[in-house]
Amino acid sequence: MMQRFITERSKKQLTTDSTLVKKAPVSTYTPLLLLLILLTTAFVSSLWSTLSTTNTKPTIIGKKTSVANVVSAKDSKSEEKSSSRKRFQLEATLNCSNNGKQRCTSYPTSGVFEREEGGVCPEYFRWIHEDVGAWKERGISREMVERAKKSAHFRLVVKRGRVYVERYKKSIQTREVFTMWGIVQLLRKYPGKVADLELMFDCDDLPVIRGSSLAGPPPLFRYCGDRWTDDIVFPDWSFWGWAEINIRPWEHVLKEMEKGNRRIKWNDREPYAYWKGNPFVAETRQDLLKCNVSTTQDWNARLYVQDWIQESQQGFNNSNLASQCTHRYKIYIEGYAWSVSEKYILACDSVTLMVKPRFYDFFIRSLQPMQHYWPIRDKGKCKSIKHAVDWGNNHKEEAQKIGKAASKFIQEELKMDYVYDYMFHLLNEYAKLLKFEPRVPEGAEELCVEAMACTRSGLERKFMTESMVREPSTKAPCSLPPPLEPTSRRVFYANKLNSIRRVERWEDNYWKNSTQQLHTRI
Ligand SMILES: *[C@@H]1O[C@H](CO)[C@@H](O)[C@H](O)[C@H]1NC(C)=O
Ligand SMILES: *[C@@H]1O[C@H](CO)[C@@H](O)[C@H](O)[C@H]1NC(C)=O
Ligand SMILES: *[C@@H]1O[C@H](CO)[C@@H](O)[C@H](O)[C@H]1NC(C)=O
Ligand SMILES: *[C@@H]1O[C@H](CO)[C@@H](O)[C@H](O)[C@H]1NC(C)=O
Repeated sequence: MMQRFITERSKKQLTTDSTLVKKAPVSTYTPLLLLLILLTTAFVSSLWSTLSTTNTKPTIIGKKTSVANVVSAKDSKSEEKSSSRKRFQLEATLNCSNNGKQRCTSYPTSGVFEREEGGVCPEYFRWIHEDVGAWKERGISREMVERAKKSAHFRLVVKRGRVYVERYKKSIQTREVFTMWGIVQLLRKYPGKVADLELMFDCDDLPVIRGSSLAGPPPLFRYCGDRWTDDIVFPDWSFWGWAEINIRPWEHVLKEMEKGNRRIKWNDREPYAYWKGNPFVAETRQDLLKCNVSTTQDWNARLYVQDWIQESQQGFNNSNLASQCTHRYKIYIEGYAWSVSEKYILACDSVTLMVKPRFYDFFIRSLQPMQHYWPIRDKGKCKSIKHAVDWGNNHKEEAQKIGKAASKFIQEELKMDYVYDYMFHLLNEYAKLLKFEPRVPEGAEELCVEAMACTRSGLERKFMTESMVREPSTKAPCSLPPPLEPTSRRVFYANKLNSIRRVERWEDNYWKNSTQQLHTRI
């Protein structure tokens, strides 16, 4: 229902947009301008409130520097900004009128459009330094990049503000397409500001770059990493939409989830731990299913198998993410590797029960147990879940606080602007290390929105239209915080470990007590 409502609405917005551009005669010009100014004001004030909350919030590690200059710039900028909006109106819609022979020429590929400062990036940006750390000393040679080719799905080249791709093999579903789409949008957001580079991208799940051979590890981009590998983590395709299972672009999902969270208050939610997913991708998930409620046991877990075939026949209306925030606790468990479901689970306002993960994506590393989620043991999941839910139902205030902190992090620090800024900084830090002149391979294909979207149809086309960057950003990228110093890094990991240990001790006591009680009762 919600889904349908939002779809209708966005359709309407889309048509309004295109009529705006196509046939706005002079007489409609004034109301149009007013509308633009209104929109801009709304944007600026929401920016302001985000900044002020981010700024007063206690940070996880270290301190953010002041962003006060951005806040004070609030009043004077709206006029300038609406004029820059006007300038890019022609680019505001996808022009597929030249269908089949799209040329990538209409959008600016250089120029400075930013008038506002971007403030300081969230803490998780610090891991960018770590991810390119393996090449800090000796740099990245062409030979290293070529060595990464054997598992890559494509080579991506940025040259003078344009994006080119050389394809090696097809990925699962449309992962590669939406990943490339995302990078194209980044260049539209910051025309001419992404440095020239060549990179190899692997769209499969598992990280593969192991350890330090003498020649140095080949740099390979993918969606997740673990502590034993050097793969460089990059935002996954779902931020621009996952067409195969009808998950809309992140920006829209975030809004839906914010609304969804207001519909059922935490206290009114089912007081159990919920999970729905595909158990067949990993043993640990099948192990989790043993904790489901039955006639003989209740570990406080309510677990369901996601039947994708059935869902697809029903138009995925049961898998709507915003309507899955119905329980006080939601379980996150890895699949084959990290799971895309993570950000949707964390965004629910529910307490995320995180089964001990092995993998990390680009944002998860700055989250802390007990502050943003509740850690669950991998061995002995059922007991761990039972205790977590019991604890939360007996400490409602504290439990809600954990749920809120996670969804606040997701809404504020993982909004689409920051996803782009993360890509921006990661790519530029990577490019700084290249010791060779990037070149466009012969026969490479230039990527641009027309070439990519005009030949597509259905959900793929719809999601591309929705997630398209319509104009260069008027705000500069946030500024990249420095690497964690060795001491704060140690403290950070020690705190993480201590919180997990503390929960494990509570849990052990809880079970010792209950078996004692059992014995005394018998
Ligand atoms: C779309 O592109 C065609 C040529 O490719 C051009 O003639 C037309 O004016 C464009 N339409 C808009 C609305 O920009
Ligand atoms: C878990 O239990 C519930 C309630 O009995 C049931 O509806 C559901 O299908 C079960 N899940 C699995 C994976 O068996
Ligand atoms: C899902 O959508 C299908 C067709 O659009 C409809 O027949 C079905 O009743 C819907 N199911 C739910 C649970 O809304
Ligand atoms: C275990 O039992 C002792 C004594 O009955 C009590 O003081 C303690 O709080 C209990 N611990 C837990 C975790 O329930």
